[in-house]
Amino acid sequence: MAAYTWVDHTFDVVVVGAGGSGLRAALGAAQAGLKTACVTKVFPTRSHTVAAQGGISASLGNMGEDKWQWHMFDTVKGSDWLGDQDAIEYLTRNAPAAVYELEHWGVPFSRTEEGKIYQRAFGGMTKNFGEAPIQRTCAAADRTGHAMLHTMYGQSLRHAVDFFIEFFALDLIMDDEGVCRGVTAWKLDDGTLHRFRAQTVVLATGGYGRAYLSCTSAHTCTGDGGAMVLRAGLPLQDMEFVQFHPTGIFPAGCLITEGARGEGGYLTNSNGERFMERYAPTVKDLAPRDMVSRAMTLEIREGRGVGPNKDHINLHLDHLDPKVLHERLPGISESAKVFAGVDVTRQPIPVLPTVHYNMGGIQTNYHGEVVTLKNGNPDEVVPGLMAVGEAACVSVHGANRLGSNSLIVTSSRKPSSPSSAASTALSPAAPTPAKTSRIATISTG
Ligand code: FUM
Repeated sequence: MAAYTWVDHTFDVVVVGAGGSGLRAALGAAQAGLKTACVTKVFPTRSHTVAAQGGISASLGNMGEDKWQWHMFDTVKGSDWLGDQDAIEYLTRNAPAAVYELEHWGVPFSRTEEGKIYQRAFGGMTKNFGEAPIQRTCAAADRTGHAMLHTMYGQSLRHAVDFFIEFFALDLIMDDEGVCRGVTAWKLDDGTLHRFRAQTVVLATGGYGRAYLSCTSAHTCTGDGGAMVLRAGLPLQDMEFVQFHPTGIFPAGCLITEGARGEGGYLTNSNGERFMERYAPTVKDLAPRDMVSRAMTLEIREGRGVGPNKDHINLHLDHLDPKVLHERLPGISESAKVFAGVDVTRQPIPVLPTVHYNMGGIQTNYHGEVVTLKNGNPDEVVPGLMAVGEAACVSVHGANRLGSNSLIVTSSRKPSSPSSAASTALSPAAPTPAKTSRIATISTG
């Protein structure tokens, strides 16, 4: 280090990343009175959350009865039963309060006739423990992430979060006892090196979708936080759990929101058949995305793909009222035009499953504290280090995330505590409840 000049900074909390999770953590820490920095390699409102389309899940019950227990059941089942049930309970119980908090900050949600937050159907979201699809995903047209990111950036400025923009985080600063003391970063416009000391570092660096040729992720999704953790000798978890979104535009890979099927869109093969009726007779095109992606792949492998090479599937929105397309799905109507040359009011969109989300990542407990294996304890907390959002593996998603559960992961907190994951880290961690199998007791099979 002596060969370089370092610029030093000292904060209570340093958040790395300014997507939904990063901004929410930074905002919560600043609201709690902590001196907070947010180090980000892109301008905050260019973070990949800006591309999140369909919505944020919470059992508000604006479109009919809903309960957090139903949301919890769907999330456990959707995770292929591999999600952490304590974490899932925490998420789904606190989701409605988190959405109202966003609303009060100013997120411009779409509205029902009565003026309530509009909710649409999304894959795997059901009522009464799997009985039928439910409208649980709160939407701001098909630009929900965009609306959230801009609102939270404004609120973060209001609460005096100190932004270090176009700073590329390099490595964690760990002491000899394994405590995280800060993070180093490289300022991209002048090449200077910076050393941020902090009581708590929060990694909110997003996923690593760009490890794949075709993905819905921005070019910035390169797994930087995971790499920093590995270089510090700490573990990653469940890295084999990579999600494919059923409807990437063929061949570009850009996202067409699951909200398109939530508004009534459906998939067909080369026989014009709505094949999801065979694979998931109850929820059909609104099955969890791993099931839909698998079904599409099987159709193509068995020779029923569309196009000259029979290598993709058709997504129909052409039967929907153009007014609905204009009001609820304006963004994807434009994307379909730009990337596939398709007018969605008349033609199907060519689609193919595309890498979309990493369920695995930096291992944490459900408080967001990074954990490691030490002295035989696999859940030993690494002092001073937290991870949130897609960078982390809590694991609420298990082997498969339900659509719209990623935006709620960025925001869900205990309603009684305005503090973010970051400020939680500055107080003694609450004991983690013993593992249970409560869902097994309410499962309808
Ligand atoms: O389809 C979508 O709008 C994606 C949402 C999500 O991944 O949560």
